[in-house]
Amino acid sequence: MKLDYSTLETETLSNNPKQNRIDSIAIQNQDVRQLKSIVPKPKKPVSIEQIDEAIITTITEKNKNNLLNNSSTTSDSNILDEIQEFPTTRYYGSKKRLLPWIYENTKGLEFNTVLDAFGGTASTSLLFQTMGKKVTFNDGLKCNQIMATALLQNNKELLPQKEFEEFIKEVIPNRGFISHTFHNDYFTEEENQWLDGIALKIHSLTCEKVKSIYFYCLFQACLQKRPFNLFHRKNLNLRLRDVKRSFGNLKTWNTEFSVLMLRSYKQLSKMTTNFDCSPIILPATDASEIKGKFDLVYLDPPYINSKPTSDTYLKKYHFLEGLSNYHSWSDHIKDDGSRYS
Ligand SMILES: C[S@@+](CC[C@H](N)C(=O)[O-])C[C@H]1O[C@@H](n2cnc3c(N)ncnc32)[C@H](O)[C@@H]1O
Repeated sequence: MKLDYSTLETETLSNNPKQNRIDSIAIQNQDVRQLKSIVPKPKKPVSIEQIDEAIITTITEKNKNNLLNNSSTTSDSNILDEIQEFPTTRYYGSKKRLLPWIYENTKGLEFNTVLDAFGGTASTSLLFQTMGKKVTFNDGLKCNQIMATALLQNNKELLPQKEFEEFIKEVIPNRGFISHTFHNDYFTEEENQWLDGIALKIHSLTCEKVKSIYFYCLFQACLQKRPFNLFHRKNLNLRLRDVKRSFGNLKTWNTEFSVLMLRSYKQLSKMTTNFDCSPIILPATDASEIKGKFDLVYLDPPYINSKPTSDTYLKKYHFLEGLSNYHSWSDHIKDDGSRYS
């Protein structure tokens, strides 16, 4: 199913973590075809206490008792330890830091299958998978579908470090689409040419799982090298200007892609999790079109903003989406050269 990008909604998370609120909700025993009516209508973001209440009020009486009677067990500490090993996400609205809280509030529920309909970084899917659940992941962006493929698989033997390092070393920079289209926008000319080289090389691979690992590491490197980890502004000058800085991380911005990619690879390989259930990763789909039945549906949609000009997820991450669809990237570029249409 092709996603209509105009339906990717907007979000207004503050850069100040203290002001960030969560708007996710867990719903049990729902036919997903009803999702359209379940997704909350545009309203003010709710507080964490309200979400707590929302989860409690959407579960069955039996599960409510389970939840209230739950006490910590040995496996609790294992899962909480494993959460600490989950890779850093660098994504707007990621719930990675809230995973211990989400775990505490869902561990007492009886469910085997779960849909993460607005999956983003797949952190919450990773948590459910670590809890031994059968996870179905979805997100409107293909780059997130690819990252979920890398994160949610048992991939330790799939791509040995030596092979990974050789592959990166063999990248041949070239003046391709990125270099022509995004001159001085997000990365330097030398970096653009290297990105053109690696994009071609990754897309030439045939194994989707191996591809996803390279892409995962490439996307993480791209995010790390961007001010605010975003692509919503063409602001390479923030990085290149010779000024005294009170924010940002110049050292990381200037670190080579290959070095940052290897760091992400190591973080991914360090995860100790061995999953019992393999996940279902849906092709990037509008959440309201997902079909199927699940014991639990976890919804973490974007905040909806009344201002039409505010940034969508696509605007924030269009560059990663372009790398995911490298050979058809030019078809999606708008006149301003900046993003998908
Ligand atoms: C708040 S984020 C989810 C964060 C995620 N729970 C995590 O921990 O990373 C919202 C996600 O919804 C996705 N999205 C936006 N509109 C969508 C739609 N119509 N259908 C599916 N996904 C959508 C965005 O791409 C974004 O990744």
